[in-house]
Amino acid sequence: MPACALRRDMEDTDPSQSLTDEVAAHREPSEDVGPLFVNRWSPRAMTGEPLDESAYRPLFEAARWAPSSRNSQPWRFAYAARGDDEWETFVDLLHDFNRSWAADAAVLAVLFSKTTDGEGHTLSAHSFDAGAAWENLALEGTRRGLVVHPMGGFDHEAAAERLDAPASYDVEAMIAIGERAPTDSLPEDLREQEAPKGRKPLDEIVSRGGF
Ligand SMILES: Cc1cc2nc3c(=O)[nH]c(=O)nc-3n(C[C@H](O)[C@H](O)[C@H](O)COP(=O)(O)O)c2cc1C
Repeated sequence: MPACALRRDMEDTDPSQSLTDEVAAHREPSEDVGPLFVNRWSPRAMTGEPLDESAYRPLFEAARWAPSSRNSQPWRFAYAARGDDEWETFVDLLHDFNRSWAADAAVLAVLFSKTTDGEGHTLSAHSFDAGAAWENLALEGTRRGLVVHPMGGFDHEAAAERLDAPASYDVEAMIAIGERAPTDSLPEDLREQEAPKGRKPLDEIVSRGGF
């Protein structure tokens, strides 16, 4: 999509109310669901511009309201914003492929989850809960027209070590947040993939009465 059409689409559409033209061209929900779920996808093209803290802090607030087992809230986000002293530390964690586009983010976050409670008992749902927090964050970002892209391709051990994570925390994912840019700003090999992906049919993921 050319830059001007992309901007028009994003400015004219409330992603909570209706599908953006870009998403409607690639995705067709098979049931009547809130458009925000379908509008969320993982673009890679970002402007490389910083974001004001007020533009991204609400994403973490959305994550805060995720449900968790016994309300343990095991998620923890460590992040750097472009321009912070720690920015290069976060960029350096990324595997080369992800660095080739995610270095243009405004915020890079590492999502950790706490594996044990205060008494040292295992929190068996810690990853499940952190996943719920991630999705809340992503949906709020989508609502605000931001790119929110999850990544597993980074050095998990270095993330724990360089960000001083206590031993009771697991490293779950990295998240790139930024302002959307036109596809042609991406390295050539990534341009073709810059489109919302489809999904398996509903009947393949849900069955009444067991598998
Ligand atoms: C746990 C996790 C790890 C991922 N790792 C990467 C990654 O390292 N690099 C990347 O470009 N995308 C990564 N993705 C994005 C997925 O490829 C993407 O979510 C998936 O293809 C579905 O597309 P959509 O998010 O656009 O709907 C990851 C997503 C998740 C949930």
